[in-house]
Amino acid sequence: MGFISENIDKALGAVEKGRENMDYSPQSREVGRVLSVARGVARIEGLGSVRSEELITLGVGVPGMALDLLEDSIGVALLGSNTGLRAGDEAVPSGQVLSVPVGESLLGRIVDPLGNPLDGGPHPETFETRVVESEAPPILMRAPVDTPMASGIKVIDTLIPIGRGQRELILGDRQTGKTAIALDIILNQKKGDVVCVYCAIGQRSASVARVIDTLRSHGAMSYTFVVVVEGDAPSGMQYIAPYAATSMAEYFMEQGKDVLIVYDDLTRHAQAYRQLSLLMRRPPGREAFPGDIFYIHSRLLERSTRLKPEHGGGTLTALPIVETEAQNISAYIPTNLISITDGQIYLSPVLFQKGMLPAIDVGKSVSRVGGRAQAPAYRKVSGDLRLTYSQFQELEAFARFGTRLDQDTRKRIEHGLRVRELLKQDRFSPLNAAEQVVILWTVSLGLLDDIPLERISEVQEYLITKLEEGFESMERLPQAGPKDGVWAELEKAIVHHMSLWREANAAA
Ligand SMILES: Nc1ncnc2c1ncn2[C@@H]1O[C@H](COP(=O)(O)OP(=O)(O)OP(=O)(O)O)[C@@H](O)[C@H]1O
Ligand SMILES: [Mg+2]
Repeated sequence: MGFISENIDKALGAVEKGRENMDYSPQSREVGRVLSVARGVARIEGLGSVRSEELITLGVGVPGMALDLLEDSIGVALLGSNTGLRAGDEAVPSGQVLSVPVGESLLGRIVDPLGNPLDGGPHPETFETRVVESEAPPILMRAPVDTPMASGIKVIDTLIPIGRGQRELILGDRQTGKTAIALDIILNQKKGDVVCVYCAIGQRSASVARVIDTLRSHGAMSYTFVVVVEGDAPSGMQYIAPYAATSMAEYFMEQGKDVLIVYDDLTRHAQAYRQLSLLMRRPPGREAFPGDIFYIHSRLLERSTRLKPEHGGGTLTALPIVETEAQNISAYIPTNLISITDGQIYLSPVLFQKGMLPAIDVGKSVSRVGGRAQAPAYRKVSGDLRLTYSQFQELEAFARFGTRLDQDTRKRIEHGLRVRELLKQDRFSPLNAAEQVVILWTVSLGLLDDIPLERISEVQEYLITKLEEGFESMERLPQAGPKDGVWAELEKAIVHHMSLWREANAAA
């Protein structure tokens, strides 16, 4: 009895104390009014203290984000359908900057930029939120890029290597294999520890479905999640998509993980932002884009980095994709992005038509920081590959005029043709670093120069299989320095297997 009354007393005491601390003064809550609604944009008045990017609820519950703060009105990008929303409706600010749920449970899921499931599953169970437009890590928290992000694609890992924490632009005309490259890089992380994010912006549902299907059928969804906003979604949703996806990715980076994010593509993103800006009557600039279009992309891509070990050592690698028109890489958005990123992979429709796949134009592609992260063996095998290859391209152009060629030129052309043949690679057929090194070393030794072009890929497969079975130092090959004894061993093994192959094929 005494026990109960004691507890009741305690409870009453607590209530009393709570009442004492309660604030009974009148509270004011700002409520604004919708002035006008246009496609995906509303203008509201009567909200004085709203912050930029604050979440505002309009009418019966349409979410929106404050984007254009003027003295007498606010432009709001709608993040939902505007049906049922009309002038005069209430606009209630949340007091919070727009944020998204983040957490481990996003892995394997397909969500919209606000974290709502699109795969028919339940809401991802998350216990944290992050603001959509979070600040990029300050310089003092950043470390230089020094670990490779293996793509499994020979021409990239050899000549345009990507490092973890780097931003590498993928650009090219439509249907040149941009998405295919990004997907191959995601699929190549299967055996590793990288968390991948594919952010689809403004694409047709059929294309997105194809990507998701590819990720699923190759078992990539266990370490990947997809953020989707389709082409018919409100411009505001398309605009926030890459920022929201980055916030979700940053959660993993801050756990010390290596994260890879693909933005497919930023052309659509820029167009959505242009539409929002024009509807908000901001002054248009070049190509009718608003003046701050450079800033919106640089502020997005600045968030990719490698954190110092004392800050967890996580990395965020970004592969933004941009579409060019008629191979014009000096259009406004592509040049902006080229200047923001640490390099670009340029896909040429001409190479694509010739069946040179992946259609990467080596001359117009570069990686400005990835070289530092490249495994040492690559330097040995690709040393002057770029040079000999571009010389070959020039010679080849000459040879087309039917000029009589001297022995040396003819030899160089034959060699270049083999290099080109070897740099071809089908989709979904990644090679690890050791396998790539074997192949490149073989060609740079000139051992393939007398092999018919149409049998090159067969020889490649044969060599890889034989060496994987019988060459003991295979695993440590990528780390071998230029003076390592393993090179002589490797050469011996390659010569041996090549002569076996020649014998077998001469007999046949
Ligand atoms: N290395 C490759 N080997 C064989 N086929 C390829 C290769 N790369 C791309 N393709 C094929 O080329 C077509 C276009 O590829 P993809 O969709 O990746 O191009 P895209 O540039 O992303 O196109 P879009 O501009 O429509 O986004 C696809 O059918 C794809 O399968
Ligand atoms: Mg694509």
